[in-house]
Amino acid sequence: MSNPIRWPAEAIWQAIDPLLPGFSVEILPEIDSTNTELMRRARQGRHDPVLLVAERQTAGRGRLGRPWHSGASQAGVLPALTFSLGLPLAPRDWSGLSLAVGSCAAEQLQPQLPPPDSGAPRLLLKWPNDLWLHDGRKLGGILLETASHGGASSRYLVVGMGINILAPAADGLSVPAAGLQDLAAHWRAEQALEQLALPLVQTLQRFAEQGFAAFAQRFAQRDLLNGRQVRLSDGQHGQACGVAADGALRVHTSAGMQHISSSEVSVRPTS
Ligand code: BTN
Repeated sequence: MSNPIRWPAEAIWQAIDPLLPGFSVEILPEIDSTNTELMRRARQGRHDPVLLVAERQTAGRGRLGRPWHSGASQAGVLPALTFSLGLPLAPRDWSGLSLAVGSCAAEQLQPQLPPPDSGAPRLLLKWPNDLWLHDGRKLGGILLETASHGGASSRYLVVGMGINILAPAADGLSVPAAGLQDLAAHWRAEQALEQLALPLVQTLQRFAEQGFAAFAQRFAQRDLLNGRQVRLSDGQHGQACGVAADGALRVHTSAGMQHISSSEVSVRPTS
């Protein structure tokens, strides 16, 4: 039997509790989905700030109702880091939140972006919620959900994050997948969680105060689609031209510049 994983729960709690009083960290061996669980709790009126980590999800969910599958463990290494952070949040404007969260995650997992001509793997962001390597392989994704929280402006936000540590087998995946170990062989799920947890809370609190404007430049540095030909699931196609001030994807199509903000649309690069 492999050794149990040593999650840095205490260190994470100590770092975050001063920012989020009443915060707790829960590590579960298995659950259907960490997002589903926190949304269930929110519907029962449980709105405390919590970081819920699952070593295995049996019904992980992605955006647009897609499933989120993690691969199999190898030699005691968890194949993916899967967690959700739930907390009440009251930003003036929610638009661009997934881009701010993605920028935070990418910067924590690869602080220095290698130059494009270096040949080194580069961790980029694919609008609106994916972490991809520059070679077109998906490394992870973000699923944001909210539940009502009494007040007019405040909602209970659930930020779900799934980051592959090992590259899953390609079978049945709509896009080829990569793992954090493609960036650096030392990565483990527990180390990635420690790296991400506090900056994620700080990002959410900064977003609540300053909105997407505080993150726009950082997103632009890692924008995988910028300048590329893209095809949208609603049939439109054109050239991606960065994002607008509200985080909407700008696509130059034959009908002019379109701003895509619908959460129902998916985008694929075609060049
Ligand atoms: C996507 O790629 O569309 C988003 C994937 C988000 C997956 C994470 S894993 C932890 C949390 N629980 C879920 O069921 N989904 C998110």
